[in-house]
Amino acid sequence: MVVSIFSGFCRFLPTKRNQRIKAIAHEVKGLVKGIIDKRVAHMKTGGNSNDDLLGILLDSNYKEIEQYGHTKFGLSIDDVIEECKLFYFAGQETTANLLVWTMIMLGQHISWQNCARDEVLKIFGDKKPDIDGLNQLKVINMIFLEILRLYPPVVAIPRMIHKETKLGNMTLPAGTFMLLHTMLSHHDPDLSKVTKGQTAFIPFGGGPRVCIGQNFAMLEAKMTLVMILRRFSFELSPSYTHASYTIITLQPQFGAHLVLNKL
Ligand code: HEM
Repeated sequence: MVVSIFSGFCRFLPTKRNQRIKAIAHEVKGLVKGIIDKRVAHMKTGGNSNDDLLGILLDSNYKEIEQYGHTKFGLSIDDVIEECKLFYFAGQETTANLLVWTMIMLGQHISWQNCARDEVLKIFGDKKPDIDGLNQLKVINMIFLEILRLYPPVVAIPRMIHKETKLGNMTLPAGTFMLLHTMLSHHDPDLSKVTKGQTAFIPFGGGPRVCIGQNFAMLEAKMTLVMILRRFSFELSPSYTHASYTIITLQPQFGAHLVLNKL
């Protein structure tokens, strides 16, 4: 797959690729708008809107507009479309990568795979996984944290400094572009010692913009891994080539070649 960062002057050139990017963006916008329009129409006829994230977002937005009596408060439909895209992208790609790296590592370290499966069988047996049980998964939680340290799906966090800021003994002028490199921070034992690990481990970012989906992501990943471990044992295929590669998120460059055996 070829991906480019769609920014800067080049994006205005009418190349074949740019036209395709625009056409896809237009199609995605139309699809998301279709979902939103249906939901808004349902809400206007008094239907329940509050049973999923989009419903909660639209509901709270309408309340805000109503409270201030003006549409300049609250989100526009374009904002809601962007929020939907952000949630899909931020939530889907990242968690999928966490699971893929976990499968690769457990396919290589079979004793850890067995240990994780033993824990699943001990906690759930044949029962359907529930929240209480998922919260008891200590080994699997530990495995995910180690995978997030080694292969953080978001490898770096960009920031633009808006006004002159003092950081330690540095003065950063307005307009400075900074990149907090999650992956380097996770792999640097010295940094970890200095901060006692507290701010060196940042797979979900930190501060006011910390990932709002982190608990959901861990729960979703646990649920998926439980279901896989109960049904299959797996190992790395000899054709697997280890190469981490960033296409916005961190992915195995040549795919995750695994051999699954039904249990
Ligand atoms: C393993 C899974 C995930 C990882 C590693 C991850 C990582 C991150 C990171 C590092 C940030 C901070 C970006 C920044 O500071 O600029 C972030 C923000 C965000 N994440 Fe996640 N994320 C994950 C799953 C999810 C899920 C499942 C959702 C939603 C269902 C989600 C929604 C968001 C949103 C909306 C933001 C923006 C928050 C804001 O700017 O206030 N993420 N995520």
